[in-house]
Amino acid sequence: MSTSLCRFRMRLQVHFLHIRLCGAFRSASQIAPSSIGDEIDPTRLVAVPEERFQELVTAEVAYLATVPVKAVSMRQIVTWRDARDMVSIIQREVPRRFALRIRLIETLDGWQAIPELVKMHQRLTRWYRDLVLLNYSDPDMKEFVGTFKSIREEGKHTIALSASGIYKLRKRLNKFSQQETNFFDDWLDGFLLSRIGTNALIDQFVAIAAKEDGGLGRPTGITDPRCNASNICEFAAQISSYICYQRFGREPKYIVQDFQAGRVGPQDNSPCYFSLIPSYLRYIMCELLKNSFRATLLTSSEDDMSKRPVRIRVCRDVHTVAIIVSDEAGGIPFEVGDQIWSYMYGTAAKIGTKPEGFGNPENLTGYGVGLPCARLYARYLGGRLSLTSYPGYGTQAHLMLPRLDPNEVQ
Ligand SMILES: Nc1ncnc2c1ncn2[C@@H]1O[C@H](COP(=O)(O)OP(=O)(O)OP(=O)(O)O)[C@@H](O)[C@H]1O
Ligand SMILES: [Mg+2]
Repeated sequence: MSTSLCRFRMRLQVHFLHIRLCGAFRSASQIAPSSIGDEIDPTRLVAVPEERFQELVTAEVAYLATVPVKAVSMRQIVTWRDARDMVSIIQREVPRRFALRIRLIETLDGWQAIPELVKMHQRLTRWYRDLVLLNYSDPDMKEFVGTFKSIREEGKHTIALSASGIYKLRKRLNKFSQQETNFFDDWLDGFLLSRIGTNALIDQFVAIAAKEDGGLGRPTGITDPRCNASNICEFAAQISSYICYQRFGREPKYIVQDFQAGRVGPQDNSPCYFSLIPSYLRYIMCELLKNSFRATLLTSSEDDMSKRPVRIRVCRDVHTVAIIVSDEAGGIPFEVGDQIWSYMYGTAAKIGTKPEGFGNPENLTGYGVGLPCARLYARYLGGRLSLTSYPGYGTQAHLMLPRLDPNEVQ
């Protein structure tokens, strides 16, 4: 049992405990007397052993994980424009989401034997502790922004870590039936969707925080009210081309075209603007294009490639932006079916090895998480992503995104 005692500020709310570790150490005899019968003073400092503190955190995590997490939609997030106003929201919402994910890992039989899952569990617990130790009643915005930025930085390989952890767990437990695969896919969907929601909250906070506090000082936060969808598609195509060139020494042709309701045919110099989180659209487009480019390169000679460009069509009306990515790379065999949406299906899963440099976004293929993750982002944006394969011909991906602002011009 640890003998060191930590001094910390304790504030009890209904079922909710906020603890702030102050760093100074005291002996057990110096612990403040019991306040039974007294009003609880939210700023009073008390001391508890580190071990007891960990127990309190564990108990609080267990409790919070049972409280239903209310989804915070992108529409809500983008209305928050003042970082100080957002403090109480992230104080309430972010630790809950970490607690939920800690518990999700604990629901998996045998998770303790998988280093990736253990690492994620430890990280989430540490992040949770870091957040409850922040002083929310008198926030030092620099400390706040710094804490959230380091959590985001440390968590940037979560997709690779969780997919690889689940992949190993499934192998270790020898659970390969369709039902068991669906279970692992649903688990990853829930875990990663919760991460997208948490990151959107954190990113909005950091984006609107003032530059002198370490934030980005962006008045509209993570959204761009005039996001140029066509430019993002072009940019994603350039990134994917570059990755192809690095990997294969050649790159496929592509064409980006704009279409608009009421006008037939491609519209020149008429880019599609709408209110959106640009980084999410870029992520989805990169995943779709990496797949189409790779399939095109693998099925084409140099001559064929110029005859079979990958087409990206950005179509819009007042309510929706629809993006179609089509290639002529032979399609996906019908028997593969919905497996493309499984985290357990994909290049690496098929060859049964971990690809070189796995987790590196510069790789053309990884663990088979590109499509399921892109679909999660589309869902988070309130839209949907589907794929239709025409065997022997090619593949079409359809991304439908609602416009956030019904008043924006087409
Ligand atoms: N346009 C396409 N043409 C042919 N096959 C495709 C296409 N898109 C996806 N696929 C098939 O679907 C599988 C799953 O795609 P997904 O993007 O999820 O994983 P991946 O590309 O193997 O790896 P990751 O995207 O994680 O780097 C691919 O491995 C490929 O076999
Ligand atoms: Mg992919």
